[in-house]
Amino acid sequence: MSDKLEFLYLSEPEVIEAGVLDMKNCVSTIEKVFELMATGDYLMGGPLENEHGMMLWFPTEKRGPNMPVAGPDRRFMSMIAYVGGDFNVCGDKWYGSNIANRGKGLPRSILMVTLNDPDTGQPLAHMSGNLISATRTGAIPGVAAKYLAKPNAETVGILGAGVISKACLKAIAETQHSLKEIKVYDLFFEKAQEFSQQMSEELQLNVVPVHTLKDAIVDADIISVATSGQNKARIEKQWLKPGCLVTLTGPADFDDEVYLEHKVVADNWKMHEAWLQDAREHPLGFDSIKDWAPTGQLLQLVEQQQKNSEDIINLGDVVSGQKLARNNEDEVILFVTGGMPVYDVAWGYQVYQNALQKGLGTQLLLWEKAHWA
Ligand SMILES: NC(=O)c1ccc[n+]([C@@H]2O[C@H](COP(=O)([O-])OP(=O)(O)OC[C@H]3O[C@@H](n4cnc5c(N)ncnc54)[C@H](O)[C@@H]3O)[C@@H](O)[C@H]2O)c1
Repeated sequence: MSDKLEFLYLSEPEVIEAGVLDMKNCVSTIEKVFELMATGDYLMGGPLENEHGMMLWFPTEKRGPNMPVAGPDRRFMSMIAYVGGDFNVCGDKWYGSNIANRGKGLPRSILMVTLNDPDTGQPLAHMSGNLISATRTGAIPGVAAKYLAKPNAETVGILGAGVISKACLKAIAETQHSLKEIKVYDLFFEKAQEFSQQMSEELQLNVVPVHTLKDAIVDADIISVATSGQNKARIEKQWLKPGCLVTLTGPADFDDEVYLEHKVVADNWKMHEAWLQDAREHPLGFDSIKDWAPTGQLLQLVEQQQKNSEDIINLGDVVSGQKLARNNEDEVILFVTGGMPVYDVAWGYQVYQNALQKGLGTQLLLWEKAHWA
């Protein structure tokens, strides 16, 4: 057996060539992840094995001459997971995020995905992660729509005309074949226009920009929320059409009754409960999570015992056939997702396998023989 250890490096152009933007394949990969989650064949970090990731926030005041200070969406994050089944791989998505990047011609967050052999720990691949992350984030509402939307959904409301919404719409169109009209609302109308033009051409669907939030919502069978920043989209209860599915990739501003009166399905409720546990242990209590935890409002209702955790269904249980989520065509369903490293590891692994088959990437040497073995 050779002592030499190499791993595959994949740049962004190489992950594109390896099919990272193939939404059909990504949706089916994410569906398999949900099935594995229902059987327990996965692990994430932390004592409860369900942590989203480990975050590093900068303080409001410098504690050293070079230490960065807090800013909007400014953090580092390490998201670790093991995914079982045929994947059988460990990995980490590691990223830095800073809204000020936009003024420097950089994306808000810059991500890398590392895959490791679960037995030896040896690195298999180190790859550009931005498109892995964006595509898998979009695939999730696509899978949710497949299992939770009412049959023959025709209309979609898109809130937020950013990169993630593009991926969400691509995935929803992948699983919903009866779509007739998609309405797009953004705080900046020109962004909604640009989004609509690009997505109409790409998906060959009728995608139109609208001037008000209400216009995007009132007729929608599926509402996909992926806005960013502090200014959450305010969705009035009476705007929700009977039978609609709301997928919350980013948070929205609802009255509490919306969560209390409607069925909630989660990507993995245990992960959201881990955030609640963090809040309970933090000196600032609930205030420590309310600004960034995507389910902050819902978790507060659970903490106040207004919403029962037992009533929240996991999508994996629906995908695997263990639970039925939709009981009728009039029921409004809210799907909450916080993002999990299991998706990044699974989709990254699929892209890595494609790259190996196509002979893409650069093998990098770790060592010819370990210096200290
Ligand atoms: N759940 C997950 O796994 C996951 C993963 C990645 C990103 N996200 C979330 O997805 C969201 C979108 O990310 P992105 O990278 O596309 O952001 P982005 O900044 O590129 O785009 C967001 C868009 O939303 C618009 N917007 C902001 N507030 C709005 C409002 N109140 N009404 C309508 N439009 C509004 C902005 O103008 C912008 O065009 C973020 O909240 C991000 O945290 C979730």
